[in-house]
Amino acid sequence: MSQLPKLPSGHILGQPLTALAPMQDVTDLAFMRVIAHYGAPDYFFTEFFRVHSQSRPEKHILRSIDENDTGRPIFAQLIGEDTPQLIRTVRELRTHAIAGIDLNLGCPAPKVYKKNVGGGLLRDPQRIAELLAALRDACGSDCPFTVKMRIGFEDTAHFNTILDSVSQHRVDLLSVHGRTVREGYRSEVHYDFIAHAAARVPCPVLANGNITSATKARDVLTATGSAGVMIGRHAIRNPWIFSQCRDTLADREPPPVVLAQVRDYIERLYEATRSADFPERAHVNKMKKYLNFVGQSVDPAGAFLHAIRRASTATELFQICDTHLLSEPGKPFSDEPYPGVIARPNCETPQSDGCSLETVAA
Ligand SMILES: Cc1cc2nc3c(=O)[nH]c(=O)nc-3n(C[C@H](O)[C@H](O)[C@H](O)COP(=O)(O)O)c2cc1C
Repeated sequence: MSQLPKLPSGHILGQPLTALAPMQDVTDLAFMRVIAHYGAPDYFFTEFFRVHSQSRPEKHILRSIDENDTGRPIFAQLIGEDTPQLIRTVRELRTHAIAGIDLNLGCPAPKVYKKNVGGGLLRDPQRIAELLAALRDACGSDCPFTVKMRIGFEDTAHFNTILDSVSQHRVDLLSVHGRTVREGYRSEVHYDFIAHAAARVPCPVLANGNITSATKARDVLTATGSAGVMIGRHAIRNPWIFSQCRDTLADREPPPVVLAQVRDYIERLYEATRSADFPERAHVNKMKKYLNFVGQSVDPAGAFLHAIRRASTATELFQICDTHLLSEPGKPFSDEPYPGVIARPNCETPQSDGCSLETVAA
């Protein structure tokens, strides 16, 4: 058997790994730079590259690889089911500075799964086995090949079969979002299934789903025996979460975050995601989608969130930030989201063509 590629090492040798979950329309170069400013995870993943007969790697996603100056490795995620096209895309992406190739087996958007890609593939374990064999081969022994999956489509009947394919085709790293496709983003996360995966496959497993804080990360690591955690929405809410994980996992108390620092985060995110061809109104609307998450930790009554939804200009947005974040600048920003403060939209629009901030909430 040929030698397996080596995964990049984490920040701290021997500590569980941390990763920023891939998020379409979120984890672009600008966002990753902002996250890195507050404490980068060990691994980044791109938004998914769509792969089909006419596809070419999307330029803006390539940019997040080519101009990655976060100091941390980035895996390129693919979504698709056409083997020759996937192989072609792997070859092309391997000419860029990627840490590895990741296959998306989890996207729950109907427009995606109806094409039998993403989460849709979880209904067809035989097809998954073929894809894993082909992608392992295309990645060879010098490019890590990783998979991100949910625990099933309708139910978990195929979970073991898929895990056994992951083992057989020598996947290098497996991220498991502990929900089925049908469960979307709101149900409980089945950490017992993540524990089962971690025990069954030989590669490291990253536990994913509702890891809301460093304390929760530590608890999930203990409960699942996973090699690390992958964090998505709660890194939008709290970009300090990865450095907090590193402190907590080293038995150090992380420094508290206060509201004045959150004001700085919002301004940094605004500046980083701004572009000349994006009108102010549209940019403010995009900011409101990130702030939907941030607002969950500002005040228990959700007053900041309520106010921010009414902003339509940058001046209004920052006035609201000043009122709610600088009147008591030393007030703590909660590690956990306040119960009952819901990021909207809290529904998942059935016709969405991917996973996006438009349709997914906390
Ligand atoms: C806005 C948004 C976009 C997402 N896009 C992707 C994606 O491109 N690829 C993917 O594998 N998962 C995607 N996901 C799923 C996340 O990677 C992650 O599995 C999910 O949000 C659960 O983790 P969390 O509770 O830490 O957010 C997306 C999730 C969100 C909220």
